[in-house]
Amino acid sequence: MTTESHPGLREHAAASLTAARARTAALTDPVTEADLTAQHSPLMSPLVWDLAHIGNQEELWLLRRVAGRDSMHPEIDPLYDAFEHPRAERPKLPLLGPAEARRYAAEVRGRVFDLLESTPLEGSALLDDGFAFGMIAQHEQQHDETMLITHQLRQGAPVLTAPDPDAPYDPPGAPEVLIPAGPFTMGTSAEPWSLDNERPAHERETAAFWMDTLPVTNAAYRAFIADGGYGEPRWWAEAGWDQIRRHSIEAPLFWHREGGEWLRRRFGVIEPVPDEEPVLHVSWYEADAYARWAGRRLPTETEWEKAARFDPATGRSTRYPWGDADPTPAHANLGQRHLRPSRAGSYPAGASPLGVRQLIGDVWEWTSSDFLPYPGFRAFPYREYSEVFFGPEHKVLRGGSFAVDPVACRGTFRNWDLPVRRQIFSGFRTARDV
Ligand code: AVJ
Ligand code: FE
Repeated sequence: MTTESHPGLREHAAASLTAARARTAALTDPVTEADLTAQHSPLMSPLVWDLAHIGNQEELWLLRRVAGRDSMHPEIDPLYDAFEHPRAERPKLPLLGPAEARRYAAEVRGRVFDLLESTPLEGSALLDDGFAFGMIAQHEQQHDETMLITHQLRQGAPVLTAPDPDAPYDPPGAPEVLIPAGPFTMGTSAEPWSLDNERPAHERETAAFWMDTLPVTNAAYRAFIADGGYGEPRWWAEAGWDQIRRHSIEAPLFWHREGGEWLRRRFGVIEPVPDEEPVLHVSWYEADAYARWAGRRLPTETEWEKAARFDPATGRSTRYPWGDADPTPAHANLGQRHLRPSRAGSYPAGASPLGVRQLIGDVWEWTSSDFLPYPGFRAFPYREYSEVFFGPEHKVLRGGSFAVDPVACRGTFRNWDLPVRRQIFSGFRTARDV
C-alpha cells in the first residue's frame, strides 16, 4: 500500500505518537524525582530508565535506521539497550536524570515529527504504511503498561487516579460456548502495524471444544482457594508447586486476608476483592492449577484466537472479536481509561461471532501454549523483539489488559512471559474438550 491509498496515515501516525507521549507524561509527571530513580521491585526498571529507553528506541529506529542519522549521544546508547543490562542492574547505571531523560525524549520527538512530515511512507519495509512509526508508538505504549506495573508494585500513597468502569453490562446466558471443529485463519499478513510474531496469516485446524464465555472471576478463584487448592499438589505443575511452596504463595499477588475477608492492594489503595471482576495477578501456574481443579484446562493459543476471530457465517477471521472496526469504549476496557478490569459480563458489543465475551481488554489471558514462531516467520525489524524469546520457557498471553492501548491491541496480538510471573495484569479463562 502507498501513502496515497492511505489518506490520513501521516496524521494517524502523529496522533499515535502524541497519545503515547501523553500517557508517558501521565505516568511520570506526578512522580517525585526520588521515586522516578528508585527501583520499586527487582523485577522492574526505575521509571526514569523506561523514560529514556522510550526516547532511545525512537531515536534508533526512526532517526538512525529510517533517516540514516548519527547517534545523538553514543555514550548513552548501551545504557538503554535492554539486552546489555538486566532490569535488576539498571539502578546502578549512570542513567540520565529525570529532567535530562525528559529533555532527550522530547528532542528526539521534535526531530521525528519533522521526519514524519517529509518522509515518504513507502519504498522500504520500515516505511511502508508508516510501519516504523507505528512500531514506535506501540513500543512506547508497551513501556507505559510496564510503568503502570511499576506503579502497582510501588509502596506508598497513590499517585494515579481514574474513574471506575461504567461499562455496558449484560451477562451472557451460558457459561461456555461450543467452538466448532475445522480450519480457520490464524495470524495476519494484512494488518499494517502488526508485529513480526503475528505474521504470516496461515490456516490451522482445531477439534471442537468448549470455551468459557467470560474470564474466570475473583469469586470463582476464591472457591479454589477455599477448597484448599494451594495445598493440593495434584492440581499443580511441578515447577508451580515448587514456586508456591518456596514463596509461601496462597493467593493472587497483592491479596491478603484480614479477619476472614480477602483484601487487595490496587495502586496504593486497600479494598475488598470484588467478586465479579476477572481475577488479576495470577501466574501461569496458578491459572493452570485452577483449571485442573475445575476439571478443565487452559485453552491453547490457537483455540483462543479461533474463539476470538473465527466467523462461521463467512469463514473469515475478523480483526477483533466484534468485527473489523477499531475498538471503542463500548467494545472493551483498553487504554488505561480505568485502573482495573470491568466486571465479567460487561461489553456485550465486544462479543465474538461465536459469542465469547471480553476477549479483548480487562485482563491478559494465559494460554497453555509456548511462545513459538508461526510457519513462515521472519524476524522484523530486529531479532530481539520476538525471535530470541521463542521456546518452551515463555507462555503466550492473549487479548490485552485494561492497561493496553488500542494501538498495541488486535485479535492477532501476541504477548508472552515466564510462567512464574504475576505482577503483570494477567488473568485467564478455561476450556474443555468436547
Ligand atoms: C512484548 C511486552 C513482552 O515488554 O518485554 C518492549 C515488549 N519489547 N520493548 C516487553 C517490548 C521491547 C515486551 N513484551
Ligand atoms: Fe523496550
